Order: sequence, then C-alpha cells, then structure tokens
Amino acid sequence: MKVLVVGSAGREHALVRAFHLASSVSEVHVIPGNSGMAQEALCHDLDWRDFESIIQFCVKNEIAFVFIGPEDPLASGLSDALRERGILCVGPSKESAQLESSKIFSKKFMQSQNIPTAFYEEVYSVNDVVRLSGRFTPPYVLKADGLAAGKGVFICSTLEDLKKEAQNIFELQSLGAAGSKALLEQYSPGWELSYLIVTNGSEFQVLPLAQDHKRLKDKDEGPNTGGMGCVAPVKISPDLNALIEQKIILPTLEGLKKRDLLYRGVLYFGLMITDKGPQLLEYNCRFGDPETQVILPLLDLDLGQYFLEVSKGHLPQMKLKHIFASCVVLASPGYPEKPQKDIEIEGDLSHQGNSSYFIHSGTRLENQAWFTNGGRVLCSIGLGSSLRESLNEAYHQAMKVRWKGMQARSDIGQKILK
Ligand code: GLY
Repeated sequence: MKVLVVGSAGREHALVRAFHLASSVSEVHVIPGNSGMAQEALCHDLDWRDFESIIQFCVKNEIAFVFIGPEDPLASGLSDALRERGILCVGPSKESAQLESSKIFSKKFMQSQNIPTAFYEEVYSVNDVVRLSGRFTPPYVLKADGLAAGKGVFICSTLEDLKKEAQNIFELQSLGAAGSKALLEQYSPGWELSYLIVTNGSEFQVLPLAQDHKRLKDKDEGPNTGGMGCVAPVKISPDLNALIEQKIILPTLEGLKKRDLLYRGVLYFGLMITDKGPQLLEYNCRFGDPETQVILPLLDLDLGQYFLEVSKGHLPQMKLKHIFASCVVLASPGYPEKPQKDIEIEGDLSHQGNSSYFIHSGTRLENQAWFTNGGRVLCSIGLGSSLRESLNEAYHQAMKVRWKGMQARSDIGQKILK
C-alpha cells in the first residue's frame, strides 16, 4: 500500500522511516518532507493548507491512508476534509484537536471531567496578569492559549519577568493571535512524563512511556524548547499507572464520547508526577517530537498495517520489543528564540552505527552540502538492551557531525539512570 505522511520535522522523518521499514508499505509519500527523508520517501512540494490539492494527490496516487504529523493541519481541519471525501486518515477531527489548539478549551475540558490539573486563571491583558499574580506562588507559568510551535510557555521566577513576558505576548504580540489570550497557571514541581496512547475515541493502547527534556540546557536550566532529547521506555509502578488511567485517561475518553468528538490517532498526555500524584499539564493531539523518535523503534509491528486499522477506527494488538531507545537533539545556535539557519553541517550525516542513526528535523541539502534549516536540526538516535547502552550509542552517533554553535544537552536520560 501507499502511505502519505504530512509534515516536515523529526517526528515525521521517524514515521517515514518506520513506514519505509514496514513490509505492507510499497511507497511512502510525504508533504512536504525534508531533504533528509529523500532516501526513504518521495517528497512533494505541496502546501498542507491547500486541502483540495492534497485530496487530489491522494486520489491520483491511490493513497491507502494519510498520517498527519503536526498539530497545525489537525487544528485547521485537514483530517475532516480528507474524511469527508472518503480518504482514510490518522488524526483527530478539528473539534477534538482543540484539546491542543486552545489551552483554555483543554483546561475547561479537564475541569469538567475532574481531571487533576494545576490551578489556573484566564488572562487577556498585562493588567489581568499583574492583578491575578497574587493568587499564584512563583515561579509563575504563563501559557499562550493558541498554537505557538513549542514557544508559548513561559516559566518566570519573578513578577518582573512575568510582566515582561505578558507585555511581549499581549502588547508586542510576539506570538500573534496565539497569544491574544493566555493562562496563568500554578507551577507544579515534579518529574515530567510523556504518556501517549493510540485511541479510537473509546478504547486505547498505551505506547511505551517516554521522558522528554524540555529545557535547553543541562540540569533543566535555560528556556523551554520543543524538546532537547528523549528516552524510552520509562518504567513506572503499576500503582502510578493505575492512577493515571483512572484519573486522567479514562475521564478524557469519557469526555470525548460525551461531546461526540471523533478521535482516531495518537493522544499525548503531558504529565507532571508531583508529590500529590499525577497532574495533567497539557494534551497534544498528535505524536510528540522527539518522543516519536524513541517510541517507534520499540514497536514490534508492521506500522503500515497497524495505522491502516487505526484510520478505520480499529485498534489491533500492539507488541513491544524489549529494547531501549534514546534521542539527543542537536540544535542550531540561537534556538529556541532565534535559531540560525544556513550554517554548514560538517561530518557524515549518513553514518549509521549498528544501533544508531540520524533523524533529520531541520536540514537542507544544497550542492551536496548540508545546512541547518531550523531550530532542531538532527536527532541522534541510539538503541540498546539497556538505557545506558542506548544513550552511549546516541552520544557516539552525535559525534559524527558538528557545526558552528551547535547546541546539545549532555545529560539526556541521567535523571532516570540515577
Ligand atoms: N516534545 C513535546 C511535544 O512534542 O510537544
């Protein structure tokens, strides 16, 4: 069968690679993709906003199903447009995607389902932020309501910093319409867990648990990013797992059913495990990036067959490999605020160890030379029979490339190892 992936980042390259390895898949197409995917897929220079062209493309090429990677096309209704024309697709409807595309919608949804989440207030101006800040204890968390490509969360240690960020989003409109409203949220200390499920809206399967590293620098310092590295699987106690299912997963599915929201795809619960138990920080209506890069290698299945069934609303059996996967993100100088593009990448991007390889997030090929083309540039992936082994593989792989000002964390996975 032929499969179409929509997207161009590391998550989509990981999907392309896994579909390419699936024996049920004869051709992988990607819109628009990136140069690093060209060995495994046919990249097409189409705009995802042009729904009609994508529909025509699917019909002409007899695409079995479309896998929509990022949140923007989902929030804009691409999955609905495809389904209306009889094209199978993995991804929630536009209405369901509001769980991610509006932080206010998702908080209200959590509240109405009694899901444990941090206290919050809606804010619409700098004045609101200053007036309501007394209800919170620092550090303050300010979250833009709309989609902001991982740049919409600000953790501010002082009231002064909070005011500055509020001025940026409300007055300087640094995030455009995404920052026209926001949430002020109580900071919850604890450890983060990426809990992803595949669901058809009523049943679910838990994917291997992963731990993302959101801050730019070692020891969780520096600004928030889309994710600087990830490890999986993360083992948690059966008691904690039962608590997450009872208090968070099941009430979420109940809420979807109650509202008649169509969901066929991956639902990502961004959890904070606190002293008081698990809290839901946010929903993402898609696979995580870089979580996908470490989850997919652990699945012992034909990804084409599996997601074809999911696109029809079924959930086939999922078997797992007993291995570990690690991902170290290599980023551009200036990331996340102002990533520098067009810096030449030196080294061997095609290098593959026995258990390591690169996933391309933001690269560009020109006259046989590779250049940075985004904030997160490459993901160095390592696999192994232990977490330590997979981390060694990933860090060895990372040494095969370099560029001026390259940023990477050196402590991915260390918290779990300790
Ligand atoms: N790694 C976080 C995300 O995909 O949203």
